[in-house]
Amino acid sequence: MKTFFQLKRFAKKNIIPIIRPKSAKMLRNFCRVKKPKKILEIGTAIGYSTSIMLDAFKQTFVVTIEKDEKMAEIAKQTFKDRNLEEKVKLIESDAFVALNKLQNEKFDFIFLDGPKGQYFKYLPLLKGMLNINGFLLADDVLFHGYVKKEGDPGHKHRTIVASLRAFINDLSSDSNFETKLFEYEDGLLLCQRVK
Ligand SMILES: C[S@@+](CC[C@H](N)C(=O)[O-])C[C@H]1O[C@@H](n2cnc3c(N)ncnc32)[C@H](O)[C@@H]1O
Repeated sequence: MKTFFQLKRFAKKNIIPIIRPKSAKMLRNFCRVKKPKKILEIGTAIGYSTSIMLDAFKQTFVVTIEKDEKMAEIAKQTFKDRNLEEKVKLIESDAFVALNKLQNEKFDFIFLDGPKGQYFKYLPLLKGMLNINGFLLADDVLFHGYVKKEGDPGHKHRTIVASLRAFINDLSSDSNFETKLFEYEDGLLLCQRVK
């Protein structure tokens, strides 16, 4: 698939979750303005958000991690169709395994859009991979609003909600980071490593 329209239509038809429109616009503007040279993405899916970042700032290089084999195959085709193969390294792996192997690499921007229940577990690894003044953007941190709602989210969502709360609280109380929560769509957390 070559165009953003085709990618969005394919995602909708096949019920593949991709970044929502307002958040996608924010991601695009962020890359256009901040011009991160090296990006790490967790959760490639069909390569839609990867393509947005590369379209917004053409000099960037993206390392993107995807666990699902079928998704990775589609993403590879997307990168081929969009002529992005030299600007992307797709790692087909569980993100936690891949992050442990990438510990010697540093990034200017990390876009976290993988398994929400794992964000907190990834955090110590991610913090060390971010350059000073680099940014981390985490998508869907409010988990259908449950993260902000008072009280018990119920048995089904308890673990994921607790993990996302811990993730937000950790970054918000870390003096090495400046953190802002955007409450539109399913919530985006933008953090800058300041020291
Ligand atoms: C919300 S989708 C990513 C959407 C994509 N960033 C976009 O907006 O175009 C989340 C992706 O994370 C992948 N994923 C889930 N668990 C994972 C894991 N443990 N390691 C790596 N990828 C994982 C899923 O297969 C899915 O494709």
